Formats: sequence, structure tokens, C-alpha cells
Amino acid sequence: MTENTLTITDNRTGSTYEIPVQNDTIRAIDLRQIRIHEDDFGMMSYDPAYTNTASCSSRITFVDGEKGVLRYRGYPIEQLAEQSTFLEVAYLLIYGELPNKEQLEYWQERVMHHTFLHQNLSKMMESFRYDAHPMGMLIGTLAAMSTLHPDAKDVHNEKSREKQVWRLLGKLPTVAAFAYRRRIGRPYNYPNSSLNYTANLLYMMDYMNQDDYEVNPILSRALDVLFILHADHEQNCSTAVMRGIGSSLADPYTAMAGAAAALYGPLHGGANEAVLRMLNQIAAVENIPGYIEKVKAGEFRLMGFGHRVYKNYDPRARIIKKVADDVLSVTGGNPLLDIALELEGIALKDEYFVSRRLYPNVDFYSGIIYQAMGFPVDMFPVLFALGRAPGWLSQWLELIDDTEQRIARPRQVYLGQEERDYSPLTQRG
Ligand code: CMC
Repeated sequence: MTENTLTITDNRTGSTYEIPVQNDTIRAIDLRQIRIHEDDFGMMSYDPAYTNTASCSSRITFVDGEKGVLRYRGYPIEQLAEQSTFLEVAYLLIYGELPNKEQLEYWQERVMHHTFLHQNLSKMMESFRYDAHPMGMLIGTLAAMSTLHPDAKDVHNEKSREKQVWRLLGKLPTVAAFAYRRRIGRPYNYPNSSLNYTANLLYMMDYMNQDDYEVNPILSRALDVLFILHADHEQNCSTAVMRGIGSSLADPYTAMAGAAAALYGPLHGGANEAVLRMLNQIAAVENIPGYIEKVKAGEFRLMGFGHRVYKNYDPRARIIKKVADDVLSVTGGNPLLDIALELEGIALKDEYFVSRRLYPNVDFYSGIIYQAMGFPVDMFPVLFALGRAPGWLSQWLELIDDTEQRIARPRQVYLGQEERDYSPLTQRG
């Protein structure tokens, strides 16, 4: 028996199998040799929601949920949030190394050069109904972008892929700002590429022809840090969708429209929006105990709490508290923050949450910060998408270059009917 193998005895047949172990993992396909008889399909592993299945190998992001560790390309999230800019982190995720000065300047210039939207696209955005959710607009516009950039279909062409990365990162803030301005009935502001990435976003959203308009640097830096915290999180729901669609060799606009759609859900990127709605619903500190009782009775979940991977604390939630302080020092207090702090304090002591290891996640405070900065609630998941975009793109690039990957195609355990004969309508009871 060699080391680094797993010996499996099938008690149904008495047969023994030796399966190689690499990186603490066995290959699911190795289970297929486990059969009861010759024409048996072979054994599979069953893992709804992929709680213990690796679908790829990756060099991008490391998460240790038990220890509360998050690193991009080896760099701790705390150091990146403290010292880096969002575009620098985007470069790191995509190319694997921090850029030197020239590389960073070129990268910033390329991304900011691609901030303008094709007129057809901005016109198309006009056709959304006045109250369309900006996340729906983002998803629809991303999908439409694939029609304007057919060169993106050449996914095996490295130069073309790089261009789509510049375009996507450049245009996303413009789409987000246009969605916002459309929603509130104001004219679009065109991008100002002399500003940094997040300052340009704030400018496009807020500028109203004031002579003395300036983006507040504390607020643009806070947004930059929030985007860094959201930039990647290994194989989460939306990234898995990006890879899943990418595996069919669809272009990255189409794949990212799908990823954004996955992010939209309240259990994922929609959670920050759901947190704000929840805090508004609670409305006052004295209503918290009653609310928590309903959560414990299973009526609904405490939004912004819990994580599939982090079971002690979410390192991003710690950093975000500091960002909240910076933002509130500019914008003034927020009554919802008092409710959030009280809610967190009570939940962290309550046996229900302690025993299930439910802690505040990144979305618990990000919503409060976004609200304090004046973003409407339905823009929150859009901001999450902007932050997550370099993560989606780096994972997509990694997938395309991974020779082990093929079109994603999960298996199923069939529990349905055995074969039976069709009965004509007249003979059905
Ligand atoms: N409030 C109340 N109970 C909860 C919560 C919550 N937020 N989250 C999990 N539970 C309970 C759940 O009911 C279950 O209890 P029991 O064992 O008695 O049935 C137990 O905890 C385990 O839950 P689970 O659904 O198996 O956990 P999961 O790992 O599948 O879900 C989660 C992770 C994030 C979807 C979930 O915790 C949740 O729904 N949280 C609220 C939504 C939220 O804040 N999402 C943002 C996640 S962070 C941003 C991102 O990456 O998208």
C-alpha cells in the first residue's frame, strides 16, 4: 500500500480499492471504478450545493474559514485594504503579481480609457422602465455588451481577453452610474478619466454641474476599500456561475451577466440590501428581542449573519467597521448603526447564533456604509458587483488556461420514475 492513498472497502462486494490522494483530495472520477457488477455505472459522490467538492484548482484566493484568513495571491486582505488601491488589487488578481509603477500606470490608463459606453448601450439603458432595479439593468446591459464586442468570442486569444478585461472593468462603473441616474431621472454624466476609479464613479453618480464640485477623498477611499474587500472570494456562488458559463466558451460579457445574476440573490450579493431592509423593518432598538425570537423560530434569517466558509469571524467584517467610522465622520451618524450594533451584540451572545457559529459577515456593515454615503438601497448589490468584477475575471482567465477544465456538467442522482409506457389523454384518470 503506498502513502497518499485512500483504501476503500465496498462492503456490498467485499472489494477493496486504492485511490490516490493529492492535496487532501481524491478525484471523484476515481470512485467510478467502484462497481457492484460489470455494467454498473459506477459510484459517484453526492454533494448538493457543493459543500465539500472542489470543482477546480486555483492560485488566486486563499480562504481559511476556521481561522478567518483571506488572502489574494498570498497577500493578506488586511494589508491590501490598508495599503493598496482597488485597481492595483484588480491587477494583482488578474496577473498574479502586484504591478510596478510603469505597469500600474499603463493598467490604470487602459482601464480608464475604456470607461465610455457605446451610444447604443446608453440608449438601450434609457428603455428600462423608470423604476427598474439597477441590478436588473446591470445584468441586462452586461449581456447586451456582448453584442457590441463580438471580438470577445475569441476567448482563446490572449490579447482579445486582455482587452475585454480592460473594457469590462472600465465600463462597469459607467453602467452602474447610468443605471442610477436613469432611476432617479437625471441626465447621464460622462466618465472623467482624470479621476481615480472610485472617484470617477462617485462623480458620474453625483455631479450636477456645480462649479465647486469635488469628490470627497475620504468617501472615494472608503469605496475603494469596500471594493478591495469584495474583489474575490474564491469559489462562491457567482464565481462558480462565471466559471460555469465560461466553461462553455461563452464570451466574458455573457458569463459576467450570469455571474451578476447569481450575485443578485438575497443570500449572496443581495444580502447587503436585505440587511438595510431588515434594519428599517426593526426600526428601533426595543424591537430587536422580538425580531430575534422570530429568527430563532425559523420565520426568517438574520441578514448579514452567517457564512458558508467563515465559521469564527469574517475578516472583511472587521476591516469594514473601521471604514464605517471614516465614512460616518464625514456623513454624520446613522440611526440604523445603533440598531445594527445592538443587534450584533445580542446575537453574538445568543445560544442559537453561537452554537451555529453565525457571525456578522461582510454585508452586515457594508449596507450601512453605502446608505450613509447616500446610495439608494437597490444600488448596493450593484456596488458589490463592481467590487467583485476583477475576481470574476481572474477566475475566468484561470479557467480558460486550465487544461484540465472542460464544459461544466454536474451529475445527478436520479430518483424519478422507472421507464413506463405513454398513456393517451383519454385513458388518464
Ligand atoms: N439567520 C438565522 N439562522 C441562520 C442564518 C441566519 N443568517 N444562517 C444560517 N442559519 C442557520 C440555519 O437555519 C441552519 O440552522 P439549523 O441547523 O437549525 O437548520 C444553520 O444556521 C446552518 O445554515 P445553512 O443554511 O446550512 O448555512 P449555509 O452555510 O448553507 O448558509 C448563508 C450560508 C450565508 C447562505 C446563510 O448563513 C445565510 O442565509 N445568511 C444570511 C444571508 C447573508 O447574510 N448572506 C451574505 C453572505 S456573505 C456575502 C457573500 O459572500 O455573498
